[in-house]
Amino acid sequence: MEQKIQRIKESALQDLNKAGNREKLQELRVKYLGKKGLLTKVLREMGKVPKELRPKIGQRANEVRQLLEGELDNRLAVLREKEKEKKLVEEAIDVTLPGRPVARGHKHPLTLVLEEIKDIFMAMGFEVAEGPEVEYDYYNFEALNIPKGHPARDMQDSFYICDEILLRTHTSPVQIRVLEDRVPELPVRIIAPGKVYRRDDDATHSPMFHQVEGLLVDKQSTLGDLKGILLAFARQMFGQEREIRLRPSFFPFTEPSAEVDISCMNCKGEGCRVCSGTGWLEVLGSGMVHPKVLANTGYDPEEVVGFAFGMGVERIAMLKYGINDLRLFFDNDVRFLRQF
Ligand code: PHE
Repeated sequence: MEQKIQRIKESALQDLNKAGNREKLQELRVKYLGKKGLLTKVLREMGKVPKELRPKIGQRANEVRQLLEGELDNRLAVLREKEKEKKLVEEAIDVTLPGRPVARGHKHPLTLVLEEIKDIFMAMGFEVAEGPEVEYDYYNFEALNIPKGHPARDMQDSFYICDEILLRTHTSPVQIRVLEDRVPELPVRIIAPGKVYRRDDDATHSPMFHQVEGLLVDKQSTLGDLKGILLAFARQMFGQEREIRLRPSFFPFTEPSAEVDISCMNCKGEGCRVCSGTGWLEVLGSGMVHPKVLANTGYDPEEVVGFAFGMGVERIAMLKYGINDLRLFFDNDVRFLRQF
């Protein structure tokens, strides 16, 4: 019996040394110490042992049991430690690896063009002014000499919040707000960029678009000054060889009024598809500030005189980059936007 215990001990220790993982250890625990385990069986057979030998054999078997339990636990601890180390190595983060590049964005083409427009006018002494996009009927129409029922309102239908408040249809209301603010200061020299809204939607019109308003009011200013400033703008924006022409037009808030065309940069004035064969491209509306507008803001039309102009930013950008559908600006397709 004693020898049997000794053999069990030896074979158990050998098995233990070979056990390479936790499952194997568990198998061994069952094989030797489980309910039907080899050592357990020996203890069950104690009845066959002569009485006087029982205490000694029993003690021996218990010693071996304790030893094996201890060894199993040690081995388990060692294996756990090894697994942990392996995991650390496998899942380690290599901090020396180069990072994944983050795609860099850039400014929207409309922002680029707007910044260019601002730079050109600021260099000529204009300040940047702003006004609200949700505007009173008074500023958007009334004070600009467009009374209720005036046919000019039909061309600028917009979204009305209520009878007296609407989404502004142009940046011209900023003329009134600035003049009201500054009266009787002179000179007033501002540009007012911003979003405007109209009930229009096709390849060249969007219900929301951008304008830049220009306004100069001083003791003296002439249509010639207006033309000189717009010519300087056209050349910086579209190339030094550009010419401009003023065509008589009508706006209720300017008198006289003029549409301003630039010579076509595609055909250099010969006439082509871009300019519909005319050699000219319409880019903005302008004129001398109407005396009623000045009077509405507190300036004396007998003492001061001014000019104003308004241009569409999308239109300028389309001409500058040769884009034929305005909706591309708002589709957010990166294949389009990436080109600027
Ligand atoms: N506000 C006019 C428009 O949107 C443009 C304009 C501005 C005309 C200033 C004359 C003077 O059509």
